[in-house]
Amino acid sequence: MSTLFTATSYGAISVKNRFVMAPMSRNRATFEGLPTPIMATYYGQRAGAGMIVSEGIQPDIQGQGFMNSPGLHSEAQVEAWRAVTAEVKRQGGKMVAQLMHCGRIGHPSLYPSAHQPLAPSAIKAAGQTFTPSGMADFPVPKAMTDEDIHAAIQGFATAAANAIRAGFDGVEIHAGNGFLLHQFMASNTNCREDNYGGSMENRLRFTLEVVDAVVKEIGADRTGIRLSPANPYNDIVEEDTEALYSALVDALPELAFVHIMEANVRAITEILKTKLTSPLILNPHEHAADGPVGGEIADKVLDAALCSGVAFGALFIANPDLVGRIRMNGPLNDLDPNTLYGGDHKGYTDYPFWQPVKEAV
Ligand SMILES: Cc1cc2nc3c(=O)[nH]c(=O)nc-3n(C[C@H](O)[C@H](O)[C@H](O)COP(=O)(O)O)c2cc1C
Repeated sequence: MSTLFTATSYGAISVKNRFVMAPMSRNRATFEGLPTPIMATYYGQRAGAGMIVSEGIQPDIQGQGFMNSPGLHSEAQVEAWRAVTAEVKRQGGKMVAQLMHCGRIGHPSLYPSAHQPLAPSAIKAAGQTFTPSGMADFPVPKAMTDEDIHAAIQGFATAAANAIRAGFDGVEIHAGNGFLLHQFMASNTNCREDNYGGSMENRLRFTLEVVDAVVKEIGADRTGIRLSPANPYNDIVEEDTEALYSALVDALPELAFVHIMEANVRAITEILKTKLTSPLILNPHEHAADGPVGGEIADKVLDAALCSGVAFGALFIANPDLVGRIRMNGPLNDLDPNTLYGGDHKGYTDYPFWQPVKEAV
């Protein structure tokens, strides 16, 4: 049998199989960041995964970068998340909250607080974002003061505690894809001249302090981190990928898991794997042309003992019962790209389950 269907554990989180549902923002929360009942249905439908990583959740008000993304910084949000985590549990699944501070990726018109995005330095991201009045350039963010930095670290710690109170099994700190932690680590987005910028050690400081604060709050065995080495998404340029992530992994404590979203550089994954003391969850993208992660790709990395779990993204959107379909070699639903972000149940909770034809007895 494929390793995919065998149990394992990530720190204190024991899972029934190696399928991980990758974090995916779907923007179905309320304007105030409250998870909605359809989100409970959506995640519950996908609880066949050994572990679900939630969509990116803002740990504090300043961390919000997109409209209708959920938060974990108010009592009302904690209460609303309980319905989601309870449904996932009822369906036999496990779920961690991805804490995502967007930093400079955002726009004041997108959220109730209308705040100016924060970033390590006042350097705007190239490109545009979708706003209520159409596409707009990313704004020049506010360079974070010492006070802002400490408030953001505290925000992660409080949100992690809130996640546990809301019934999540743990948290995943988002340190990839060009969001705030990645903005501190990459040299094109961090021109600070204090302890948080300049040398590699300084550029890693914010991420390591966030990890430390979250670990102190909920324990290392319920804390994971997501990295995306060499991923240029959101206008990131890393000059020193191998050295940067090697130093980061060397400095991390043993965590529940480290989750790597591969950006077509398998060699980096292999190097980091030799250094890791934590279980590795891999979202494998060895070659750009490979397409979304599927069963064959997952088997290949598990058979090579490259990782303990495999994160599937796009296929989980269109196939709530992905685990059963892969096990039975069933057909896969097509994904509707028009209903990915925002909207209602359409393209969210209405993807059909597969009904294998039972053999006549
Ligand atoms: C609709 C959508 C939303 C996503 N949102 C997030 C997110 O909130 N946080 C994150 O770390 N990655 C996010 N991703 C990236 C996925 O986690 C995953 O890395 C990506 O889809 C590649 O995996 P795949 O080939 O299996 O789809 C998103 C991807 C998609 C398609």
